[in-house]
Amino acid sequence: MFQHTLFCFALISVFTQPFVVAHGSHNHKAHRRYFQDWAHPQDHSVNKLFKRGGDGAQYPDVGSAEWLSKYPPANGQTPDKGLTPKEWIDALNAADGAGKIPKVDLTTIPKDKDGNPMAPAYPNNQDPTGPGICSSTYQCRGAGDIWDGPDGVFGVSFDDGPLTPTSTLVDFLKQNNEIATHFMIGGNIRNNPQQFLEVFNYGGDCAVHTWSHPYMTSLSNEDVVAELGWTMQIIHDSTGGKVPKMWRPPTGDSDIRVRAIAKEVFGLTTVIWNQDSQDWRISQGGQTLDGVNADMDKWLTGSKSPGLIILEHELTNITVQGFMGNYPKIKSNGWNTKSVAQLFGDAYQNTKGDQVTSANVYLPQNGDTSTNTTTSTSSSVSSTTTASRT
Ligand SMILES: *[C@@H]1O[C@H](CO)[C@@H](O)[C@H](O)[C@H]1NC(C)=O
Ligand SMILES: *[C@@H]1O[C@H](CO)[C@@H](O)[C@H](O)[C@H]1NC(C)=O
Ligand SMILES: [Zn+2]
Repeated sequence: MFQHTLFCFALISVFTQPFVVAHGSHNHKAHRRYFQDWAHPQDHSVNKLFKRGGDGAQYPDVGSAEWLSKYPPANGQTPDKGLTPKEWIDALNAADGAGKIPKVDLTTIPKDKDGNPMAPAYPNNQDPTGPGICSSTYQCRGAGDIWDGPDGVFGVSFDDGPLTPTSTLVDFLKQNNEIATHFMIGGNIRNNPQQFLEVFNYGGDCAVHTWSHPYMTSLSNEDVVAELGWTMQIIHDSTGGKVPKMWRPPTGDSDIRVRAIAKEVFGLTTVIWNQDSQDWRISQGGQTLDGVNADMDKWLTGSKSPGLIILEHELTNITVQGFMGNYPKIKSNGWNTKSVAQLFGDAYQNTKGDQVTSANVYLPQNGDTSTNTTTSTSSSVSSTTTASRT
C-alpha cells in the first residue's frame, strides 16, 4: 500500500498539462506544472469545497469571537447535520452516485462490564477483515492507507491536540529542529486556539483527527462528512487557507466506506500506525511510562524495515514525556526523523513548500478552453457562510 501511495505522488509530481488563460477573444497557453501543488486532479471535490488563500478570502483572527462563531460547538458531539454546508453533501452525493462510496453496515460499539467501549462490531457477524469491510480496527489495510514509514525512518506524529501539553511538546520539537504531524481534534482547536497557533507557527503539520473523536465506522455517511469537513474547515480558515492532506481515524477505526468518503469527498489520505505506544492508557492504569519506554526500546533497536509510525499523543505531560524521553534513543539508534505527513510530500493538498497556491491556477476540465479557471474554482467555495447556524 505504501508503494502504491508513493507511486501516486510520484506520478502526480511529474504530470504536467498546458495552462490556459482566456484573454478576451484569444487564448494564451503556457506549459506549467500544477499537479505537484494538489495531490488530486483538479476536478476533485475538495478543490471546490474550501476557498483558498490568495484569492481574496478573509479569515477571522484565530480565537476571536468571529472565528468562534463560524464553527459547531466543541461539546464532544458530531456537529449537527443542520450546520453542514450544502456543498459537502452535494460532493458526497456525487461521489455516491458515481459508485465511489461502498455500502457497509454501520458498527455498534459494545461496552465491557465497566461500561468502557470495546471494538466496533458489524451486524450479523460479518467478517470485518473481508474485502467488503476491511476494517482497520481489525488490522485490514485498505488500498492507499498509510501504516508504515519508509525504511530507516521514524515518522513523527501526535494525536488528540491541541491541548495544554502541546506547548511543552512544541518547545521540545523546536529545540530539536523536528517537525511533527499533529492529528488534531477540531473541537480541541476551537477550545485551544493558542496551542493551535503554537503548532502552526513552529511549522508543525495540521492534520485531521475528526471534530469529536467518535468511532467513525458507527457514523452515517453524512456524519462522517460533518466530522471530517468541520475539522478541515477550522484548520483551513486558521492557516490562511491550507487544506490538510491526511487524517487519522480515532482509535484507528475506519473501513472501506469511511476511507472512501475521506478520499472522494475531501481528498484525505488515511493514516494509521504500525506500533501503538498505548500512552493514552497511562492515565487509565492500563500502561505506564516505564511500559512505554520498554516498548520504545524494543522498536527502536529492532528492524528498520519498515520504518516506524508509532501512535503517540499530546494528551498529557506524561504522554508527551513518552516521546521526549525516548528521543535521544531514536537518534542514537540511527533513525532518520521526519513528520509523518512530510514522508509523503507536502502536508497540505494545496501547498508547495510554504506557499499556499492561489485559486486561479486550477485548470478547467477536459481541455475546455472556454471556461476560465477563476470561475471554475470560486463558484461554490463559500462553504461556511452557507451553513445555517441557528
Ligand atoms: C505539565 O508541564 C508543564 C511544563 O513543564 C507544567 O507547567 C504543568 O504544570 C504540567 N502540568 C501538570 C498537570 O503536571
Ligand atoms: C472568466 O471569469 C471572469 C470572472 O469570473 C468572468 O467574468 C469571465 O466571463 C470568464 N471568462 C470566460 C471566458 O469564461
Ligand atoms: Zn485520538
